[in-house]
Amino acid sequence: MAFLSSNIFHPKLTILFLLIHLHVAFPDGSTHLHFYMHDVLTGPNTTAVKVVPPGSDPTALTFGGIFVIDDPLTKGPDMSSGLVGQAQGTYIVASQSEPALLMTMNILFVDGEFNGAIGRDAILAPVRELPVVGGTGKFRKACGYLLIKTYTFNVTSGNAVLEVDVYVEDRK
Ligand SMILES: *[C@@H]1O[C@H](CO)[C@@H](O)[C@H](O)[C@H]1NC(C)=O
Ligand SMILES: *[C@@H]1O[C@H](CO)[C@@H](O)[C@H](O)[C@H]1NC(C)=O
Repeated sequence: MAFLSSNIFHPKLTILFLLIHLHVAFPDGSTHLHFYMHDVLTGPNTTAVKVVPPGSDPTALTFGGIFVIDDPLTKGPDMSSGLVGQAQGTYIVASQSEPALLMTMNILFVDGEFNGAIGRDAILAPVRELPVVGGTGKFRKACGYLLIKTYTFNVTSGNAVLEVDVYVEDRK
């Protein structure tokens, strides 16, 4: 999306960010962001670490497993497409019957904290919706939702690229 396709998250371009925001803001005051999240469980640049049970298979999504993430967010599905921020938090394998996660994370953009989300991420569903329960700065008191789709998932390495759409509006 145009909103994220230019280098608008560089701190020196804050004014450009505001101008672009005016162009993409919907008439009802809501905002749409689109980016990709890289969850890398194995390899040289791991971004997700399985902390419970310690020492177990780092890719196994067994019930009770807890992962800590600091996942890069990029403009496109390729890691080299440009960093826009990080998703930092935890996810817990919280279902005994299917691979469904409770995700708790802060989404931080390059020039400051944006908002947070708490919700259930049933990873086998084609589209997962998570609530946006708050924000800071420009998005103080924001409410809305995220839609998450699996862009790629490697069952051998456990590494995934997720496509994320965020819709937020101000609570006046
Ligand atoms: C890992 O990170 C380093 C430093 O940023 C980078 O040079 C390298 O290409 C990365 N490797 C992979 C496999 O992404
Ligand atoms: C999946 O991961 C395995 C193990 O790291 C790797 O050998 C393989 O090339 C990956 N497949 C794709 C399509 O990236």
